Amino acid sequence: MSHLSRATIHLDRLDHNMRLLQELVGERPLWPAIKANAYGHDALIVARHLVATGYDTLCVAHAPEAVELREAGVGARLLLLSATLPEHAGAIVAHALEPVVCTGEMLEALSREAQRAGREVALHLKVDTGMGRIGIRPDEVPAMLDRCDALPALRVRGLMSHFPRADEEDKSFSLEQIGCFGDVTKQAAGRGIEHFHMANSAAIFDLPDSHLGAARPGISIYGLRPSDGIANPRVGELLPVLEWKTRITFLKEVPAGTGLSYGHIFRAEQPLLVATLPVGYGDGLSRRLSNDHDVLVHGVRCRQLGRITMDQSQVDVSALRGRVALGDEVVLIGRQGSEEVTADELAKKLGTINYEIVTAISARVPRIAVGAGGEGR
Ligand SMILES: Cc1ncc(COP(=O)(O)O)c(C=O)c1O
Repeated sequence: MSHLSRATIHLDRLDHNMRLLQELVGERPLWPAIKANAYGHDALIVARHLVATGYDTLCVAHAPEAVELREAGVGARLLLLSATLPEHAGAIVAHALEPVVCTGEMLEALSREAQRAGREVALHLKVDTGMGRIGIRPDEVPAMLDRCDALPALRVRGLMSHFPRADEEDKSFSLEQIGCFGDVTKQAAGRGIEHFHMANSAAIFDLPDSHLGAARPGISIYGLRPSDGIANPRVGELLPVLEWKTRITFLKEVPAGTGLSYGHIFRAEQPLLVATLPVGYGDGLSRRLSNDHDVLVHGVRCRQLGRITMDQSQVDVSALRGRVALGDEVVLIGRQGSEEVTADELAKKLGTINYEIVTAISARVPRIAVGAGGEGR
């Protein structure tokens, strides 16, 4: 059965974005972030494509995300970027995942489980150079490395950090972090650590000194800007990977005075041709966009009217009288003719970031991959 809404995932644009990012970091490996269902783009589609085009290391947030990918046959190295608890150590070992670790409890649990399984765990120690979320303090690094050395079956493959403000115009805090992490890497030199890594998308564009031994781009692989504060003009070359489309399921002329949808927060001031769409907040179209966003129909911007409900919403297609019909395509995010609705446009209306817009598209919306057959790296 064909779904009436779909998110099209343009793999050729993913390839384009990866090539651009690769040019920015040169020979260094890119470890794309595909957490949260690949920022809403479908982790399995994106993982399979990235692996097929030569990427051998991917980042997710949580262990269950990685286990799902493993069970679907993804053989890449899978980093777990978020802190987790010792109860996940068994699964981490069993599925050969690479956790980011910042507690002694986790080190001990991993060592125990790895010995029990007769395996070795590769892990990445997280150093908090200013993100303020997870991680050990820079001055704790030598002692933590000693602790790792003392525990059997552990290998510290990476030492990493993360930026809270790399996407801002003022890079001074990020530059201080790079300096701090540089000192940490000097202290850790000669201890067999393969990769020092800290760069996210914003840092890939604007902070070349942070590229180090690997970079972890997320939002940019999907063709979205980390923010408006990126100085590098090449950010303008990114191509959005996701388009979200639906179809008109109902059309009606309404007389002036008609109230539409719950609460009648919209009332027609003149006769209108109104189209109903099978998309609502259950699909990830925020109810807070009610009466306040546009969609594209036949390349024309049409205003959404009234409350967005769980499963349906309505739009004004009066400008298209005589040209619009049941089943016509409607673009929620993407381009049609010369018009475009971007995730950034919706994010600005909602006072949020493009990351949240695409990540919020729910599981009910099928993701359809197109444009495969990229050229690889
Ligand atoms: C630790 C870590 N590294 C890299 C990334 C990728 O960041 P971005 O999507 O801004 O490129 C994230 C995303 O939040 C992260 O948490």
